[in-house]
Amino acid sequence: MDVTEMLDTMDYGPAPESRAAVDAWLAGHRARFGHYIGGAWTTTKGAETFKSRNPATGETLASLARGGPADIDAAVRAARGARINWTKLGGHGRARYLYALARLVQKHARHLAVLETLDNGKPIRESRDIDIPLVARHFYHHAGWAQLIDSEFGGMVPLGVVGQIVPWNFPLLILAWKVAPALAAGNTVVLKPAEQTSLTALRFAELCEEAGLPGGVVNIVTGDGRTGAELVRHGRIDKIAFTGSTEVGRLIREQTAGSGKKLSLELGGKSPFIVFDDADLDSVVEGVVDAIWFNQGEVCCAGSRLLVQEGVAERLLDKLKARMESLRLGDPLDKCIDMGAIVDGAQLKNIKALVEASLGEGATLWQAPGDLPAKGFYYPPTLLTDVTPSSTAAREEIFGPVLCVMTFRTPDEAVALANNTAYGLAASIWSESINLALDVAPALKAGVVWINTTNQFDAAVGFGGYRESGFGREGGREGMYEYLKPAYESTLAALKPIAANKPSRAKKNSAAPASLDRTAKMFIGGRQARPDSGYSRPIFGADGALICHVGEGNRKDIRNAVEAAVAAHAWGRADAHNRAQIIYYIAENLSARGAEFAARIRQMTGASATRARDEVEASIARLFTYGAWADKYDGAVHSPPLRGVVLAMNEPLGVIAIACPPAWPLLGLISTIAPAIAMGNRVVAVASEPYPLSATDFYQVLETSDLPGGVVNIVTGNTEELTETLARHDQVAGVWYFGAGGGSAMVERLAARTIKRSWVNNGDARNFDDVEQGEGREFLRHATEVKNIWIPYGE
Ligand code: NAI
Ligand code: MG
Repeated sequence: MDVTEMLDTMDYGPAPESRAAVDAWLAGHRARFGHYIGGAWTTTKGAETFKSRNPATGETLASLARGGPADIDAAVRAARGARINWTKLGGHGRARYLYALARLVQKHARHLAVLETLDNGKPIRESRDIDIPLVARHFYHHAGWAQLIDSEFGGMVPLGVVGQIVPWNFPLLILAWKVAPALAAGNTVVLKPAEQTSLTALRFAELCEEAGLPGGVVNIVTGDGRTGAELVRHGRIDKIAFTGSTEVGRLIREQTAGSGKKLSLELGGKSPFIVFDDADLDSVVEGVVDAIWFNQGEVCCAGSRLLVQEGVAERLLDKLKARMESLRLGDPLDKCIDMGAIVDGAQLKNIKALVEASLGEGATLWQAPGDLPAKGFYYPPTLLTDVTPSSTAAREEIFGPVLCVMTFRTPDEAVALANNTAYGLAASIWSESINLALDVAPALKAGVVWINTTNQFDAAVGFGGYRESGFGREGGREGMYEYLKPAYESTLAALKPIAANKPSRAKKNSAAPASLDRTAKMFIGGRQARPDSGYSRPIFGADGALICHVGEGNRKDIRNAVEAAVAAHAWGRADAHNRAQIIYYIAENLSARGAEFAARIRQMTGASATRARDEVEASIARLFTYGAWADKYDGAVHSPPLRGVVLAMNEPLGVIAIACPPAWPLLGLISTIAPAIAMGNRVVAVASEPYPLSATDFYQVLETSDLPGGVVNIVTGNTEELTETLARHDQVAGVWYFGAGGGSAMVERLAARTIKRSWVNNGDARNFDDVEQGEGREFLRHATEVKNIWIPYGE
């Protein structure tokens, strides 16, 4: 036997990590844990309990209390009680605690890694080298944001008490993603770990004690979905941050609709892993291993759809199969193991059922020969070929080690295939041509794009999805905004509905007959369009005289408007300078007709001449603001610990529906559509219902300003009805509601179906006259998605 033969036939012996320290810790607690509330531990006496198990063996690790309504209430009270002092402590004071937590995580890293692996089934190599170091990194990074809070987030305040619900796939890591920014921003939290994997969260509570964190700042209540639902329902929570299934995320969106609670959702995915024919196939194979067999494929951003350019597909699959034969599956505590156990029997059953369904639809399965461990919940690395884009394997999140393969011919086809999913969390592109990769990256609907790498995470780089993968980002500057709000928000008065002017008897016959014929139309696809209904409503002036009629928009008008907006997608790719020029040109044309617009405002609202002129001037200034911002709301270049860079790009959402504020007929329209189009979105705006004529007059300004048809569409009629149709529309990516009809709840509820982004006023009267409330970064943030593109470099 020569050396190469020896190397080829050599097997690894087991190299188990010791679990003695963790066993001692469990025994020290008599393997029973209550909740951590207000800095103290509850007992399990009299409480309903459930078991946390080791999925690799089925052994019970500990008994945990299932939190009920009283526990959730106690935790929320404790968090409320701790809130004032925690905020008052200031950025530096909080930074010290976050730093202490980071140090403690590092000090106890081995313990945490072993505990995580025992409770979840993930390989120790991953919990030791990825999960726990990233936990520490998150606390360090956010100690930094706490320190810089005043200078970097001026004018913003914490939300209050945040309810956080995390899943079982990265238990402590996702806890860190949630707890660190919340605390840095000055909030206090109630966190519910997943029922399968609560132990590291409880160990973390002990680290909070060790760090001397004031009681009530972090509260941990264990339990299952029912406990989570109690937290969502609690009346004194200011925000819910959720990571988990799209199904439960949707439910939480519906349940919190109209409550004023802020929400961020990090949901499922079906992320594409795109391989072009010039890619380095050996690196690709290692990439695939990391994409879908990391953490047993129980990863929301797993590269679960391998899309390969036809010419290299066969070669790649051969290499991949050979590599799969060398993947080692077994005891997660063994340091030589590549893949551990599936989290529990239920998840294993899910995986099997989805694979069965795929086979029933004609998919072909390949698994490396070999036996699974006799005990525990294991599923082998699996390849599914003969998969069509519409099949279960290509559409459903399997959340297990199952990769489906499809081929494409051209880059356009790759992009179309990649985007052919309801999700939009992540994507990975493999090509030796940086030109090609950077051309494809912006075309993908995904919050994170990895070029020639995959499953990279860092605290400085925002993480989160488009479409049904959720909204909100975790990590980086953008992640901090999820836990802050503008200080002025709590000073806003309630928005009062404005009744349309009534006809006055005295003025009844005074309108000239010619104006009676005039019906202002809709503005759709760059053209004035008659309302589909054929109906219109009279608009009276403040003096009760009839001014004219406006069209009564209906579903069909909305459908047409959305269709026109979708078709105008080239606007999103127009260069920012071009968009700026057009917005300035709109301002110029509005200015030329300023007197006319001021007169119209007076006529409708009865405002003084000065007030009306001010509104026109403010509208022109606002257009200038967004002409200015169009080419200045830049992204960023992050430098995470990697040889390379991460480009954070601000991208438009797509089509944004806007219910305009009723009180400012012109300024309200401009303040909302201008930031949206400046960022490359197309809009369908519902004009102020009582005062729609500034919007209908505005068509002529738009027509003379070189704005491509379909970028701005305006409909008139009943705000609530029209907004409802927009919020239901699948091709609307975001809905902004500034109406006075209490439509906030309706918008948030309907947005749940396709997990649209929504921005609603919750019945508060934003003052559009005020520059702080009426313009700027807050608007731009709502008009954009951050896409982070990871670009490692070097040979
Ligand atoms: P899940 O969404 O039910 O659980 C996630 C968390 O939400 C857990 O803490 C759970 O107790 C809690 N929860 C469940 N129902 C709730 C409710 N009605 N209100 C409030 N909180 C609730 O996910 P599950 O059942 O564990 O896994 C099912 C599938 O979800 C997986 O197969 C996978 O496809 C997906 N998933 C996605 C994750 C991601 O990171 N995107 C994480 C976990 C699961
Ligand atoms: Mg569940």
